[in-house]
Amino acid sequence: MSKLALKGGTPLRSEPYPAWPMTHGDVELNALKKVLDSGVWGTLGPEAMKFNENFAKYQGANYAVGMTNGTVTLEVLLRALDIGRGDEVIVPPYTFNATVSSVLFLGATPIFVDIESDTFNMDATKIEPLINDKTKAIIPVHVGGRSCDMDAIMAIAKKHNLYVVEDAAHSVGSTWKGVGLGTIGDAGSFSFQNSKNLTSGEGGAITTNSKELYDKCFSIHHCGRDMESGIWYDHPFLGTNSRLTEWQGAILNSQMDRLDQHIETREDNAAHLTKRLKELPFIETFKEDERVTRNAYHLFLFKYKKAANKDIPKQKFVEALQAEGIPLAPGYVPLYRQAMLTSPQAKRVLNADAPSYPDLHLPVVERIGDEEGMWLVHNILLGNHKDMDDIADAMIKVYENADELKD
Ligand SMILES: Cc1ncc(COP(=O)(O)O)c(C=O)c1O
Repeated sequence: MSKLALKGGTPLRSEPYPAWPMTHGDVELNALKKVLDSGVWGTLGPEAMKFNENFAKYQGANYAVGMTNGTVTLEVLLRALDIGRGDEVIVPPYTFNATVSSVLFLGATPIFVDIESDTFNMDATKIEPLINDKTKAIIPVHVGGRSCDMDAIMAIAKKHNLYVVEDAAHSVGSTWKGVGLGTIGDAGSFSFQNSKNLTSGEGGAITTNSKELYDKCFSIHHCGRDMESGIWYDHPFLGTNSRLTEWQGAILNSQMDRLDQHIETREDNAAHLTKRLKELPFIETFKEDERVTRNAYHLFLFKYKKAANKDIPKQKFVEALQAEGIPLAPGYVPLYRQAMLTSPQAKRVLNADAPSYPDLHLPVVERIGDEEGMWLVHNILLGNHKDMDDIADAMIKVYENADELKD
């Protein structure tokens, strides 16, 4: 009889991991009721404006502007930096679609740089050969909440006079050498979509230390209005409407107090899980970098080595773990393979000398995407040490019965 749940055996775990979004109570209910009764449900109301202040303070930025989501925040930032047609922007391929679609949306050309094998973040040592006189910006993505090498990226940006827009969608509360992510480059972009560590269902924010950039972003997200004149129907900038609603603001403000406790729990569980996974010959955890002073662990990332597990391919291993009750995910695929890059809409904005994306091959991201990279989402890390032990024990079970997975 089969032991593995994928083959009809009993799953190692039947209890669900903590659901997300999970933490809410009277604080959120009262805040929403207050908005309901106030008659101000949107358009720069007190909750949205308070959130801007709260979030800037929490992340350590001079300014923040809450917006509708973390896709639009990137688009607003690139527009505010005057990035557009013919400009090139250096992006990683191991990220969510929005990091790249925002560049295309502005009519600019995404240029992909390979990633580091031991963080899955963009590899700063491979950026410089991609820079030319069309390059305007770099978008480092702090994948899973672990900071990119911001020392190296900022040094390159300074040398070549490039903007740095940190895609910090996973990084509320994360720091690099004690400094909040999203405040090291020219600006940061955050997402509060349903799966994120701080969430209002949908939502996002930009952060910056520059008053000029803040003013531009504020105006663009507010229909391009002139904030100096204050005249309602005066629109000197080409803007959009990406204002945060009061419902979003109220929920976000209520959840801010829970952030630090959540991060402490996730860091503690991540340390325990890392210790357990280090015992397994077919799993490689990341090397610690002491400059990564705080990791919000939106994702717990690691590598799978099939050669040490009877050549069971990644996808099969993931399916076997899922059947055992462990919500393991196979992670991103290299973004340059997405059809959006060769879509008629993309062709309309890309110049003739744009890269032929289907011909691009970056070895590390392909190995991580196809064979090695996997992750557990942050709410799993809100459980206890026994919940972490179940993950390692389920992997051991799959390893010990790997023959059952051979076709
Ligand atoms: C790295 C990254 N960038 C940008 C976004 C876009 O954020 P949103 O879903 O709020 O538009 C996400 C969200 O999943 C993300 O993970």
